[in-house]
Order: sequence, then structure tokens, then C-alpha cells
Amino acid sequence: VSAEAAAPLPAKPAADDPRDVGPRLREAPARPEVVLLDGELVPAGEACVNVFDRGLLYGESLFETVKVVDEAPCLWEGHRDRLAAGCRELGLPLDVEALEAGLRRLLAVSPVAHGALRLQVTGGVQPGGGRGMTAPREGRRPRLVAAVFPTAPYPAALYSGGAAVVSAMGLARPLPQLKSGSYLASVAAKARAEEAGAFEALFVRGDPAEVLEGSFSNILFWDGSCLLTPPPDRALPGVALSVVKEVAASLELAVREEPVLLERLRTGGLLLTGSLVGVCSCASLDGEALLPLRDLATRLQDGLRLREEESVARWQASEGGPRERC
Ligand SMILES: Cc1ncc(COP(=O)(O)O)c(C=O)c1O
Repeated sequence: VSAEAAAPLPAKPAADDPRDVGPRLREAPARPEVVLLDGELVPAGEACVNVFDRGLLYGESLFETVKVVDEAPCLWEGHRDRLAAGCRELGLPLDVEALEAGLRRLLAVSPVAHGALRLQVTGGVQPGGGRGMTAPREGRRPRLVAAVFPTAPYPAALYSGGAAVVSAMGLARPLPQLKSGSYLASVAAKARAEEAGAFEALFVRGDPAEVLEGSFSNILFWDGSCLLTPPPDRALPGVALSVVKEVAASLELAVREEPVLLERLRTGGLLLTGSLVGVCSCASLDGEALLPLRDLATRLQDGLRLREEESVARWQASEGGPRERC
């Protein structure tokens, strides 16, 4: 796969310039009417979590944002397995079968053609109800909240023209392997992107400066012959990234895990991956043009879409699974 020739950037983005794509251009998510709370469907306005929940006190929570197509989750197995692994790490019990049964009921009453399922597990209240940072070894009662938000797909211009990204020096997520509700680093990085009129901000840390991941995406750097992605201890094990790596392998593209230095980015091209965004190439970094990778992004995105469709078919085929048989 050869990368296309670098295109110069116009001085000022035109009104429909894809580099100017930000959350402003996406439909504001409608507020769900019903949420799944600890296995029960509850009107959103009546769903409550205790003010002493460890998720609120200490940010002890995990979440997943899952793309929804035709009332079914995409790449569900990857999200389920990451959530289950995170829960094990935090010592939070998770009944996956009950979760899946609840999600089926939630999706059935939240008909969306295209949307995002947000699923969150919080640490729950300390046994005995008090405060105290030490995670209890026993008697844990995590809370589980899920809701489906209708969202518009990202505009086609994002994929055809590429995304503007900025570096967020000095910012990084703690415990990067966990998709933790302690998301302030991402919130701060996203704010930097928005201030700069960019789509995404990249966490950059260390000397020499290393790029870790985006505020809501993983990165793949194209060095001209190979795709590089940061080692697993530096970034979220992205569900989309893991599928994109497999797609790349099927296209006979080499993918290596190794540190991605900021100074190298300007010598090649950059892709972002994420469950909602899929695969998109980056047009610029901090206002400087990057090597456009539109063809490569399109091929990987096509492979990802296929895998999403297969996962949706699996979800639909297992309708009438454990819950219904009981
Ligand atoms: C910090 C961070 N990195 C990477 C990703 C991409 O992960 P996934 O492909 O599982 O959506 C996300 C998703 O929101 C994220 O928040």
C-alpha cells in the first residue's frame, strides 16, 4: 500500500473543511427515555445512583461506548471482554449473561438505526455505607447503568479529507489499559482539540515525546512500509484497533507495537481508530500537513465495517439465547 502524496494545507479552513469537523457538527445526542439500571428498565428521570457510590467518590468505574446499528451492538464480544477484564482487575463482580439479557431488553425499547450504547459499571457503595478509599475485598455490589443514545454517523468529509489533530503535551490517562470513568485527562484533551478547532487531541508524554493515544481513539502511525501502534502498556486496548490490526494482517500489512515518537509523525501518516469513528486518517498535526492516507484508511475501514456487520449478525442470531430459554 502506498501513501498518497502530501497535500499542502490551505491557510484557513473553509466552512465545509473536514479538518473543522468537531462535535459541533454532530447531532446532539437525544436524551434516552429509558435506562437499564442493575438489570431493570427504569425511566431515565427516575434512575438514581447513591451519592456515596465509589464511582462518584473515587472515580472507581468502568465504561464502554458501543456503536449500535439496527438496534444491535457492533463488536460486542470485544467490549464485553474488555469490561469483564476491567471488572476482574478492580474486583467487581459482573454477571455477563444477565448483562447481555438486560441489554437485549434495553435495545428492544430504544430503537435506533445508528447510535451509541453507553454502559457503565461503578464500584457501588462501601459495605456499611461509609467512606474509605480501600476497596473492600468482599460484599461488593457494583451498580450497572446502560443507555442508548441516537447519534448521527460522522460526516463523510471526515473520512475523505482527514481529521485535524493537535498534540496535548503532558496529558495522559492513568491506568491506560482500563476504560475507566476517571476520564478527566480525555475531557481536558478534548477541550484542547475543540479550542484549536481540531477533531482529536493526542496524549503526548515523556522525553523524547511519545504519542500514546487520542482522547477517544487509538493511533496507528504509517512509516511508509509498516503500521506502528504504541505498546499495550501505554494505551487503551481499543476494540476497533484490535479488529483493524487483524484487517491489516489480512491485507498483508505489517503492524508492529513500538513507541511512536512525536517527531516521527511528521515523516509519515497517522490513522485514528475507535468504535464510533471507525478508521480515519489525519490531515494535519498542530496545523502541519501529514501524509494523507485516505486509501489505506478506506481499506481498513471497509474491513472493519465487515467485521461489525458479522458481529451484529451474531448478536441477532443469538436472540432467543440464554435469557429467553430460561
Ligand atoms: C482513551 C481512548 N483510547 C482509545 C479509544 C478507542 O477504543 P475503542 O476502539 O474500544 O472504542 C477510546 C474510546 O473511547 C478511548 O477513550
